[in-house]
Amino acid sequence: MRMVDLIHKKREGQELTTEEINFIIDGYSRGAIPDYQLSAFTMAVFYQGMTERETADLTLAMVESGEQIDLSKIEGIKVDKHSTGGVGDTTTLVLGPLVATAGVPVAKMSGRGLGHTGGTIDKLESIEGFHVELNNQEFIDQVNKVKLSVIGQTANLTPADKKLYALRDVTATVDSIPLIASSIMSKKIAAGADAIVLDVKTGDGAFMKTTEKSFELAKAMVDIGTLTKRNTVAVVSDMDQPLGFAVGNALEVKEAIETLKGNGPKDLEELCLVLGSHMLVLGEKAKTVEEAYQILEDIIHSGKAIETLKEFVKAQGGNPDVIDNPDLLPQAEALIDVIAEEEGFVHKIHAEEIGISAMMLGAGRETKESEIDLAVGIKLNKKVGDRVDKGDVIATLYVNNPKNVEEVKRKVLAAYTIGSEKLAERPLIFGIVT
Ligand code: URA
Ligand code: CA
Repeated sequence: MRMVDLIHKKREGQELTTEEINFIIDGYSRGAIPDYQLSAFTMAVFYQGMTERETADLTLAMVESGEQIDLSKIEGIKVDKHSTGGVGDTTTLVLGPLVATAGVPVAKMSGRGLGHTGGTIDKLESIEGFHVELNNQEFIDQVNKVKLSVIGQTANLTPADKKLYALRDVTATVDSIPLIASSIMSKKIAAGADAIVLDVKTGDGAFMKTTEKSFELAKAMVDIGTLTKRNTVAVVSDMDQPLGFAVGNALEVKEAIETLKGNGPKDLEELCLVLGSHMLVLGEKAKTVEEAYQILEDIIHSGKAIETLKEFVKAQGGNPDVIDNPDLLPQAEALIDVIAEEEGFVHKIHAEEIGISAMMLGAGRETKESEIDLAVGIKLNKKVGDRVDKGDVIATLYVNNPKNVEEVKRKVLAAYTIGSEKLAERPLIFGIVT
């Protein structure tokens, strides 16, 4: 087999065989096929697409390029959840304790934040003492005991995807649906998921700006799930504004605690209830999503989710007192308001710009090596649909190092689109693909 022939075949829009796809990923992983041939190949895929079968084969080839986590010692169906990248997306912190309380085991490998997106591990580390360095046995034991554990990615998962993603990043081939879908699904499958719930973001702040493209991506991932025998459900949800009010590590932990107590932002709570309901059905803890939704609402209102959160935090060395008293979380020295300069109604809040603003305050990493400040971030005071008057507080900056505050203020203000008329309400959830 010669790589040049396979590039040609894909360029002409023909379907590659399983063997051909394995040849490409295996050869690229080993360094036998050079970057320039893979970049021509990814560009051909960008224009010609891939069939469902090819996309599933590509996914499995990437899974096999590295280690695969064996979660078979954990009782029950392991349902993983993935979001295609939100800002202020605190759903994992809420969903973990919520579905664990309902009996679905959550064995999650998570990442640190980079750029404008936050990472679940950074957020959890704002709880004093909390650590994510568990070995495999400790990880499995904890999930069997408290139904929930979150650890850092230690194993060498999907190295072919890492290499390919880096190449796509510099060859303008990131936003190809089969390439995104296989990249995401390969990581979930390698991490040991039996079933997967996907939160596909749509809107200005998302990978996929239009609902049409977002549904296409959702369907591509669900199709991979079907072909690889991992039950998969995708929820297409709004990212025309950040989720909830808080963006920043400790701020989001506090918001997650509030949500688990039933006092959280409505959009965050609703999205968690919907994603969680599908997790319960896939985990066979409920027959229908309606039944599951009711179970999860009851869990929130009974205070049981908070108890699970405490057990989880304690099991990983964190101070559980934080949950009754969130003021024990790292606190910023100064709170600085961003003031509206015009009046009207909020039409959009550019999530990525808010994420970058939070990063500039120190909440996120510019490069992998950057140090982050867990206390800082942004709290939105106005959300889409809200009326704003000149002089109103639009958002509050939580600041420790005031040197770029004026620049961040301008950026946050610019992230808001304010119009004179009130727009029809935009849905939080656009649809479900099963
Ligand atoms: N996220 C991923 O993990 N992979 C992609 O290709 C795009 C987004
Ligand atoms: Ca939030």
